[in-house]
Amino acid sequence: MNNRKTVWLALAASALLAACDGSAQQSAAPDAGKTLLQQMRWYSEAQVARGEKVYRENCAGCHGSDASGDPNWRQPNSDGKFPPPPLNGTAHTWHHPKNMLRMTIRRGGVPLGGSMPPFGDKLSREEIDAVIAWVQSHWSDEIYSAWARRNAQAAITTGGNQ
Ligand code: HEC
Repeated sequence: MNNRKTVWLALAASALLAACDGSAQQSAAPDAGKTLLQQMRWYSEAQVARGEKVYRENCAGCHGSDASGDPNWRQPNSDGKFPPPPLNGTAHTWHHPKNMLRMTIRRGGVPLGGSMPPFGDKLSREEIDAVIAWVQSHWSDEIYSAWARRNAQAAITTGGNQ
């Protein structure tokens, strides 16, 4: 099989996997008012609702209640560390595949010279996925689609990213 065909097959397989992911099941709530792309996102309304609570209790103090972060997030503080960036799609959170977002939240930024605390001992895998869902619910279709493409690419190179 040639390479292009392999990549295409892997893409198709990852799209199928995403479609079959049990966590993506919608609740009984109708999808009225949602664009098709919004309906196709990997998370459910229930995950967004759970994620909102997780976010409020653990993240809002630094990243802001609306995920807009610190306005000066590009400028390091006097200690050389960066202020909390926006997570709402206006910074570069959408550059990172889901596994990397999970890892950032589990391990925090300290191992990389940053200051975000780790949440691996505090939040379950489901809570971490829920908070990612809540964060992504703030992203436009355009930003979400750009993220989904990178996420699918990462799934091919790392052998799975659902
Ligand atoms: C004490 C402040 C603080 C708390 C609490 C905090 N963060 Fe952060 N976060 C930061 C900082 C600062 C950074 C930038 C990297 C660094 O310095 O560690 C960051 C970076 C991130 C990034 C990477 C963003 C990017 O664009 O690459 C994500 C994702 C993130 N935080 C999500 C969360 C989530 C979700 C929570 C709650 C579970 C949370 N953070 C709680 C301060 C915080």
